[in-house]
Amino acid sequence: MNPRILLLGNTGQLGWELDRALRTHGEVIALDYPQVNYLELKALQDCVLEIKPDIIYNAVAYTAVDRAETEIETAKFINVEGPGLLAKLAKQMGSVLIHYSTDYVFDGKKGRPYREEDTVNPINMYGKTKLEGEKAVQQVGGDYLIFRTSCVYSLRRDSFVTKVLHWSRKHESIKIVDDQVGNPTWARMLAEITAQMLVKHEKEELKSWLGEKRGVYHLAGDGLASRYDWAKSVIEFDPHKDEQVVKEVLPAKSEEFNTAAERPKLSALDCSRFKQTFGVALPDWKEALKLAMES
Ligand SMILES: NC(=O)c1ccc[n+]([C@@H]2O[C@H](COP(=O)([O-])OP(=O)(O)OC[C@H]3O[C@@H](n4cnc5c(N)ncnc54)[C@H](OP(=O)(O)O)[C@@H]3O)[C@@H](O)[C@H]2O)c1
Repeated sequence: MNPRILLLGNTGQLGWELDRALRTHGEVIALDYPQVNYLELKALQDCVLEIKPDIIYNAVAYTAVDRAETEIETAKFINVEGPGLLAKLAKQMGSVLIHYSTDYVFDGKKGRPYREEDTVNPINMYGKTKLEGEKAVQQVGGDYLIFRTSCVYSLRRDSFVTKVLHWSRKHESIKIVDDQVGNPTWARMLAEITAQMLVKHEKEELKSWLGEKRGVYHLAGDGLASRYDWAKSVIEFDPHKDEQVVKEVLPAKSEEFNTAAERPKLSALDCSRFKQTFGVALPDWKEALKLAMES
């Protein structure tokens, strides 16, 4: 029998792609704000208990990194209280919670890609709330998978890629930081690989198989890139180059931009645990970007 899947946040970058990817794997009930509002936990609880899913995919998040510095309570509700409640409900219903987190749980000072067991030390409020959210899920002691990812983009919602495309049409010279390094991750590929985990398992077998894999995994596009490298590739792969007015892309340092939140310098993720456990990995970030821009 097909699993009953509750997808929360289906208009976000990842959620929208999950909505497409999960449909072949079970009965999907997809909800977003305002049908579910993570600032109203009782209503969220009632909704989840009524649906009684076998698997919950939580694609809801407060992702405004700079605004999180001041909208701390809102960020906490969405990134901590919401996932914590979902974990409790999942345990109560015998379901599995699939949750997503971020490379911003690290301070970026290690100098190499981070493994799951590395020390966490977020340097901004967004990272702090996402880390608290991970802990809230883990403390419940139910079945969960947490996927920490990095530099997520899509072409259909505001993202770094759509911003670079926009700037390339407005400015002859663009400055982009070369001291923030991550793994660009196309939301579609992240959604497909996490939906693929549901293949080939009957409902009960699937829940216990996912339960056995319980834990935190790093999952992002293969290879590292600074925002500068990433922007240059966006401009190179742009299928409508004739619309560009940009003549040069210049490297810059984070300090030159006055942002409310500090960003880690090298927060790229080492995704080998995911590959060892599930036998698959996301492709090279440049290959994925090329595909995304042609799609
Ligand atoms: N974006 C990145 O670069 C990045 C990097 C690393 C990790 N991640 C993680 O990856 C996951 C997916 O991120 P994403 O980029 O897909 O995020 P996103 O595009 O910002 O989507 C977030 C979703 O949450 C919904 N939401 C916000 N506030 C809500 C509330 N109060 N109640 C209910 N829903 C609410 C949004 O609804 P609306 O559409 O109505 O706003 C949207 O559907 C998140 O866990 C994020 O922390 C992202």
